Amino acid sequence: MKRLGDFMKEFRKDFPALMLDDPVAYLDNACVTLKPQSVIDSIQDYYINTPGCGGRSVHRYGTHVSKTISQSRTKLAHFFSSPSVNEIVFTRNATHSLNQIAKGLDWNKGDVVLTTDREHNSNLVPWLQLEQERGIDHRIVRSNQDNTFNLESFEEACAQAGSDLKMVSMSHVGNLDGVEIPVKEITKIAKDYGALVSIDGAQSAPHMSVDVQDLGIDFYSFSIHKMLGPSGMGGLWGRTELLENMRTIQSGGQTVTSSTYDSLEWAKPPSKFEGGLGHFAGMMATGAAIDYLTQLNMDEVHAHEKSLNKIMTEGVKDIPGVSIIGPEDPSKRGGICSLLLDDKLPSHDIALLLDEVAGVMVRSGQHCVHSWFNDKGYNGSLRASAYFYNTEEDVRRFVDTFSEAVHAFS
Ligand code: ALA
Repeated sequence: MKRLGDFMKEFRKDFPALMLDDPVAYLDNACVTLKPQSVIDSIQDYYINTPGCGGRSVHRYGTHVSKTISQSRTKLAHFFSSPSVNEIVFTRNATHSLNQIAKGLDWNKGDVVLTTDREHNSNLVPWLQLEQERGIDHRIVRSNQDNTFNLESFEEACAQAGSDLKMVSMSHVGNLDGVEIPVKEITKIAKDYGALVSIDGAQSAPHMSVDVQDLGIDFYSFSIHKMLGPSGMGGLWGRTELLENMRTIQSGGQTVTSSTYDSLEWAKPPSKFEGGLGHFAGMMATGAAIDYLTQLNMDEVHAHEKSLNKIMTEGVKDIPGVSIIGPEDPSKRGGICSLLLDDKLPSHDIALLLDEVAGVMVRSGQHCVHSWFNDKGYNGSLRASAYFYNTEEDVRRFVDTFSEAVHAFS
């Protein structure tokens, strides 16, 4: 295992996007991370050397693809401490995984589903859809004033729902603010009511070590494109017995072991959920991404991101017209520094300016958490999100250019 501090220069050299003559300060990692050369090579290797069909064709291309995909699945199972490799399903992204859960389970009218008030649309819209189409009862657990989780409100919501509580579906770490929720405590309480627990891990899987068994949860969704992997790749972990009983939302080739003109035999998970010819290059390169992450100490990654966030927070917190979403303490917001700006500071214009003037890349707008912004009456935020390959120089560049931009607009 390599220590981040000692090997930072070496790590950065692995990322072609960081090795340009005029390097950018890439701080949009909550959206998508950069890719190391090994991931890029793996994608290219598929298209050049083995561009065949996995899981079906027995020729040498097909066999190589099937074998490599199986290795990627095993690496993911190990990475998340899954008890079985068959509990790892490849999907297009975390959104696809969350849709699979919502639309693949059985629901009765009045079944209660609890989310927080700061969910990404991918863990809100499927439930709103089920509310409209199937009559489930989607309820929100309000966070504390500083966006931290309110365990008391959660306990009350569970008690109110009683035996109708069927699902607790929440993001582990918010893409809005970087705030982590206490998954283990939440799960313990939810289990007292017999509810399932589905965790949206899009913002936790890349930044901290996650042990699905230790968390005690039932489902965990993740986005491989936020974990150094290819775009268009995500995953779902689920308990075997739940996956076996869940309907697939995409049936077809690969999802059955046999069919007749009027009958079918479902394949076992994960095949049942991986209908149609897949993103083979992406599944293969996922193995390279997990190899890369595995050489890092995730606790150190998380600590590094927090230390960068401290610099960002210190640098912007006293600028007039600017306030930080979430707790004041940056160590409670991982690598995310999300800023509410007053009306004379348009977040998209400032984000454009940061890139044009200094090559600082951040995200602006509502980050697909429209519900939270609409509830509070805010237009959006300017969000800087750090990853392990970011340096102090990157975040200082953000702070300096942002301060100048605010001054220019004021
Ligand atoms: N969920 C991604 C983000 O927060 C797209 O930017």
